[in-house]
Amino acid sequence: MIGTLGTAPLPQSEIQGRLDRLLGEVQEASGQQVGYPTNQNFDYSALMPFLEYSLNNVGDPFHASNYKSNSHAFEREVIKRFAGLLRIAPEEAWGYVTSGGTEGNMYGLYLARELFPNAIFYFSEETHYSVLKNVRVLNARYIMIKRQQNGEIDYDDLYDMVRVHRDVPAVIMATIGTTMRGGVDDIERIRAMLSDLAVTNSYIHADAALSGMILPFVDDPQPFGFDAGVDSVSVSGHKLIGAPLPCGVVLTKRAYVERVGRAIELVGVQDTTLSGSRSAMGPLMMWYAFARYGNEGFRKLVTGMLDTAEYAVGQFNERGIPAWRHRNSVTVVFPRPPDDVIRKWQMAPEGDIAHIITMPHVTRPMIDELVADCAV
Ligand SMILES: Cc1ncc(COP(=O)(O)O)c(C=O)c1O
Repeated sequence: MIGTLGTAPLPQSEIQGRLDRLLGEVQEASGQQVGYPTNQNFDYSALMPFLEYSLNNVGDPFHASNYKSNSHAFEREVIKRFAGLLRIAPEEAWGYVTSGGTEGNMYGLYLARELFPNAIFYFSEETHYSVLKNVRVLNARYIMIKRQQNGEIDYDDLYDMVRVHRDVPAVIMATIGTTMRGGVDDIERIRAMLSDLAVTNSYIHADAALSGMILPFVDDPQPFGFDAGVDSVSVSGHKLIGAPLPCGVVLTKRAYVERVGRAIELVGVQDTTLSGSRSAMGPLMMWYAFARYGNEGFRKLVTGMLDTAEYAVGQFNERGIPAWRHRNSVTVVFPRPPDDVIRKWQMAPEGDIAHIITMPHVTRPMIDELVADCAV
């Protein structure tokens, strides 16, 4: 193929040709994507000059670093904003900008394991695949819990399992907006369960990849934050906030992290993060989005997405297709359509269901066309 890599440098025209072709493919694909939760309405051109420098956010954003070309100050502001959204006092909060939701989940589990080395990890079969992988990487003991039809964890099964192992610390991975069905595990109910069973050594990590940026902006949110009893939360940055590069945030309590950090002389930083070198662009992009939208902007964005989701459910139902969604969810679930429809709309099916996620670029005309495709 023209422009493929060999050992000799490629002529500039071939390099450009290859890039142009990829750009065309990406432009075409992004217009008809309804199955994944990425907000594609953004403009970060103001940040382009930073790509001319080798920025690196290595280390703890709350400690000084020998590597001065960083965006730690912006990262701290982003963490502070998330502390407000996720309901923890900023002085009690600690966090950093991750490479995405998966790293945030890994961090939560790592921290839980450092605090409770012999804990059992509990998570539902609906949990994002990253969690099972992370638990395996940690070589931690785990029990997978059944899920309910609606995507929430099966509380009875969880109760029974924790009861049997009451003498062992319990780490619960709750999901705030499951990938496939948008289910929200009831944090307060899980906390009440642990208390009922007198399991005092416990830790709840909330995977709030998408809904961590929805629930803070609705009037009647399900319990989702530190006030509801979570110990750490992971949110993706490239999902609702929208970013051209994957990023995310993990937030936890400062007191926990103080127990795991180590000072690293080489870079003069506190080694509290999972990765060493970290993107400085992720924090800048999130900071820029928060600065541009403000809380009111995000509230409007979320309201619009929820309205579109409700519209989609209505359109499907009118055509006799039993679509549904959870309260405060932009994930619309319906019976799996034929493969050509799945391919056309880049959906993510699972067994006999599929979903669309009404991110800001998903318009009502797109939904009309999609519903017509599914109804054939
Ligand atoms: C519930 C949930 N958790 C975690 C992830 C992984 O996030 P990321 O792709 O940012 O690593 C996803 C991605 O879709 C998700 O839906």
